[in-house]
Amino acid sequence: MARETWATRIGFILAAVGSAVGLGNIWRFPFQTGQEGGAAFLLVYLLFVVAIGFPAILVEFVIGRRTNLNAVGSLRELGGGAWRYVGWLFVVTGFVILSYYSVVAGWFARYLVVGVTDGFTVTTEAEAAELFGIVSTGLDSLVFHAIFMALVIGIVAMGVRRGIELAVKVMVPAIILFLIGLAAYGTTLDGAGAAYAYYLSPDFGVVVDNWTSLLPAAAGQAFFTLSLGMGVMITYASYLGEDRNLATDAGVIVFLDTAIAVLVGFVVFPFIFAAGTDPGQIAVGAIFFSLTQAFATLPFGTLLGIVFFGVVTIAALSSAISILEVLVSYLIDEHPIDRLPATLGAGGAIFLLGVPVTLDLVFLDLLDGLADGVLLVLGALILVVFVGWVIPDVGLSELGQGITSVDPWDDIWLWMVRLPIVIVLVVALALGALDY
Ligand code: PFF
Ligand code: NA
Repeated sequence: MARETWATRIGFILAAVGSAVGLGNIWRFPFQTGQEGGAAFLLVYLLFVVAIGFPAILVEFVIGRRTNLNAVGSLRELGGGAWRYVGWLFVVTGFVILSYYSVVAGWFARYLVVGVTDGFTVTTEAEAAELFGIVSTGLDSLVFHAIFMALVIGIVAMGVRRGIELAVKVMVPAIILFLIGLAAYGTTLDGAGAAYAYYLSPDFGVVVDNWTSLLPAAAGQAFFTLSLGMGVMITYASYLGEDRNLATDAGVIVFLDTAIAVLVGFVVFPFIFAAGTDPGQIAVGAIFFSLTQAFATLPFGTLLGIVFFGVVTIAALSSAISILEVLVSYLIDEHPIDRLPATLGAGGAIFLLGVPVTLDLVFLDLLDGLADGVLLVLGALILVVFVGWVIPDVGLSELGQGITSVDPWDDIWLWMVRLPIVIVLVVALALGALDY
């Protein structure tokens, strides 16, 4: 059977935006920002997105579109034998990330169900923590992890056009519209002013004092949020048929992901300030405490909560399908196996790997730290070196497709990819590995 392609260009863009926008923006970004010192972290992260994330997404695009192959096969084809091992790193990373990503997504789905069946009623921190305990560990967590993975498997099993592309055409516009609505509501709340001030005034002392933890955290967040460093963007670009300008698409994708992360701050912080909980407390689980308390006290809180948790669940789903697609695309390109058994096999294995996370949150920190602090940065570093030093001509010619005028930006891109980005990533990787 012929390899699939996107039906439309916008389908490709929405799929990439759907992959990028997820728990990274809505769950990880606020608590990283809270932990790493608020606006100072925001600033370094934004710098990294523009200076590193944007060039690095193009690195993955040129590889995928040139070869029309999965993440393992494309590196083997362009680089020869040993580069295939890098592709396997992506496969491992995909397993690690999706196994815990699905568990956390399951929590959001569980809270959505709480909102629909009981409404949000817990007003004290102790009750909120108790509810979170029920949701996040044991049977509830396991069941919702299973439901979430079943949805991911269902969409990916339908294929690139009838599964992924169709799903993201509905999901991505819904995510954007509802988040804008929630942020608009946030402006009406008491305490909104204080929330924006907390979120937007950087304390540069924090950057200077904490750079050894802030730098790898900001680099890791930049890659995580843009779905870089594990072959998602290689795989999605490999389904592109026609040749148009990749840089414009990359710009749209990076802009939307960043805008949505920033927008989420305008949703989460006013809610938390209005409910009177402490923004410094927004750690892995505490974001759930503060938000459920907020939804119990705000006017129309239950409805808001349902919309919020629904949006997060959809956003997580459109990201999770991209991770599974990396693995499925590898299996069906490189082995005589059909999409359905490949999807069931990989998805089932990921479900099993996630089971320990439903039992003890220790595993969540372990896997998330490994993925974000080491695996993604390592993967991105190798890709950047590969395109910058091993196949620079292929990179440039692929980037030039669909551009009529001579473009000086291409040379700047190659220069960035060859040296400055490599240096920052080596430093971030060393600091991140030491930290882990
Ligand atoms: N970019 C996604 C998010 O921000 O939630 C997470 C993610 C998806 C990370 C795909 C890595 C990946 F390969
Ligand atoms: Na993201």
